[in-house]
Amino acid sequence: SQGNDPVIVSFYSCHVLLCFSLKVLHLWHTQLVTVYQFQNKPKPTVNISRSVTSNHDLCSFRSISPEEALEEEFILKSIAWPKYPSITKLSSLPNTSHPACGDFTILPRRGGGSWHIGDQLEVLIQMHDYHCRPKNYGGDVLLASLHNRALGAGAAGKVVDHLNGTYSAVFTLLWNGSATIEVTLVHSSEAVEVLSRQTSEHPDRVYFKSLFWSGSKTLFANCNVCLRPSMAPLCNYTDIHTGEPWYCYKPKNVSCDARINHSMAGFIKNLRPNEGNLFASGVNMKVPIRTSGPSDVLVSGRWRPSGFYYKGVWRSLGGTEVWEFNPKQMTQCLKGKQVHMYGDSTIRQWFEYLNEVLPNIKQFDLHTLKQTGPLMALDYTNNIMVTFRCHGPPIRFGNVPIGGLRYIANELERVIGGPDTVIVLGIWSHFSTFPMEVYIRRLMSIRIAVVKLLARAPQTLVIVRTANLKALTLYETLTNSDWYSMQRDKALRAVFKGTGVRLVDAWEMTLAHNLPHNLHPDRPIIKNMINQLMQLK
Ligand SMILES: *[C@@H]1O[C@H](CO)[C@@H](O)[C@H](O)[C@H]1NC(C)=O
Ligand SMILES: *[C@@H]1O[C@H](CO)[C@@H](O)[C@H](O)[C@H]1NC(C)=O
Ligand SMILES: *[C@@H]1O[C@H](CO)[C@@H](O)[C@H](O)[C@H]1NC(C)=O
Ligand SMILES: *[C@@H]1O[C@H](CO)[C@@H](O)[C@H](O)[C@H]1NC(C)=O
Ligand SMILES: *[C@@H]1O[C@H](CO)[C@@H](O)[C@H](O)[C@H]1NC(C)=O
Ligand SMILES: *[C@@H]1O[C@H](CO)[C@@H](O)[C@H](O)[C@H]1NC(C)=O
Repeated sequence: SQGNDPVIVSFYSCHVLLCFSLKVLHLWHTQLVTVYQFQNKPKPTVNISRSVTSNHDLCSFRSISPEEALEEEFILKSIAWPKYPSITKLSSLPNTSHPACGDFTILPRRGGGSWHIGDQLEVLIQMHDYHCRPKNYGGDVLLASLHNRALGAGAAGKVVDHLNGTYSAVFTLLWNGSATIEVTLVHSSEAVEVLSRQTSEHPDRVYFKSLFWSGSKTLFANCNVCLRPSMAPLCNYTDIHTGEPWYCYKPKNVSCDARINHSMAGFIKNLRPNEGNLFASGVNMKVPIRTSGPSDVLVSGRWRPSGFYYKGVWRSLGGTEVWEFNPKQMTQCLKGKQVHMYGDSTIRQWFEYLNEVLPNIKQFDLHTLKQTGPLMALDYTNNIMVTFRCHGPPIRFGNVPIGGLRYIANELERVIGGPDTVIVLGIWSHFSTFPMEVYIRRLMSIRIAVVKLLARAPQTLVIVRTANLKALTLYETLTNSDWYSMQRDKALRAVFKGTGVRLVDAWEMTLAHNLPHNLHPDRPIIKNMINQLMQLK
């Protein structure tokens, strides 16, 4: 693990020095903030051959046990994205996946006859390049879903990559009437290669700052879990309990204890010339693929989605018969309970929804920022308390007071738990730009706390809201692409498997709905998620 390496010594590369200086200049010119100056000390020995090629040179990672390390390796292997013949030149853009020529074909029902509820429907997709030549390698990011707008019905499909330019999408038919298949190219495999390289070469492309205040001096310093090596001394804010690393360059003449607040400072776009062409909305990013004639492929294994929409209401497959709750029923369901929500803004939407919809609840004004929290809403009549608090760094909010930077694992250590306690976790979108290990290890530290909580208070209900799909512009893609979310979502499901934690499948609930993808899903989807929360009671 990198965690124990002194970050300040291992930098003897021209390339690295240049990068850092440029970054400081960039900060000065665009942010007008004071960052710690790179010291004009005698140059260290320069070893030209070493340059930053791996994020492991830049990032610190929480130390984990040998068992956790094995598990991490297993997760990383299980979500490894297919490799393909690398494109090196811009001239190869015509060779990249282009949906206008891509086709999909519905395979005939096995055994013939008409389709029935419960049937597995399979679709074969052949991807093409700009010249409509069939692709012969995989790795495109595809989404598949079934819809019937008139019925308000929708369900997610599962995509299987055959690694030869063809893909299968598998659906379970869940309602009577017609079902329209939608297949969408999110990113070409070539675009994924660029996204992947963004993380290996620029894990610090989203950067943060802290304000330091000491007497008359106020200074900003650059902070991150991935910091370019420099001569500057560091302030080490690694969390004592969880071991989560966090560092700032130490501002001159100001104590590390003088840190006041934390903010996202900016984002550096590092695209090589014309790589932006791989992320063109409506051309090769989030574009529907058309249908054509039939073809033959068999995908083994049955698969069941976690639920589907019918008359606009999400029906989870498994158990319950009640899918919709009115505010009165919701109050009844939450009577006497404490619901503690921890995470990012996508879980804050749940807090806001409950605060709006529950008839007797009122938010108590804690004079905190909406994004960061802590937020608290109380229903005195029914003894209901709902709280929200954002997760610890990396977090892209602004002006988070240092006292408000809390790791979920540490918060959970302080929860007594029991049958009247509901814990809701939603943590994914602020981790997209960092190496996968940063996220996996964060989840593992949360898992330790969850397992302890469930051991001391087994009746506590712990719910994890998964990642969701979002609208993609170039900026949104480089900082928070659905591909990053998709990969992290798989890791999240793997880490919490078998812990007794219940999932609300935000991924499928946004894929299956006919509303546009949105980082903050629209209200009808939130309403359905809250219905899910009620069903888990
Ligand atoms: C930062 O502190 C943590 C925990 O106190 C320690 O394990 C780590 O080695 C420190 N990092 C550096 C670069 O000194
Ligand atoms: C593009 O594809 C064509 C035909 O498949 C191939 O001959 C050519 O070398 C490719 N160009 C690049 C730059 O990869
Ligand atoms: C691609 O792979 C699938 C699954 O192995 C196979 O059924 C199909 O024939 C292959 N298609 C091509 C064009 O090679
Ligand atoms: C579909 O229609 C059949 C026959 O009309 C009915 O028995 C069944 O309950 C319906 N299923 C659903 C999910 O509506
Ligand atoms: C830092 O403090 C020293 C000693 O008090 C002083 O000489 C120096 O000018 C200070 N530097 C800055 C940048 O404030
Ligand atoms: C936090 O930093 C901002 C500048 O980004 C500053 O305006 C604000 O007053 C600070 N907040 C606190 C509580 O010090």
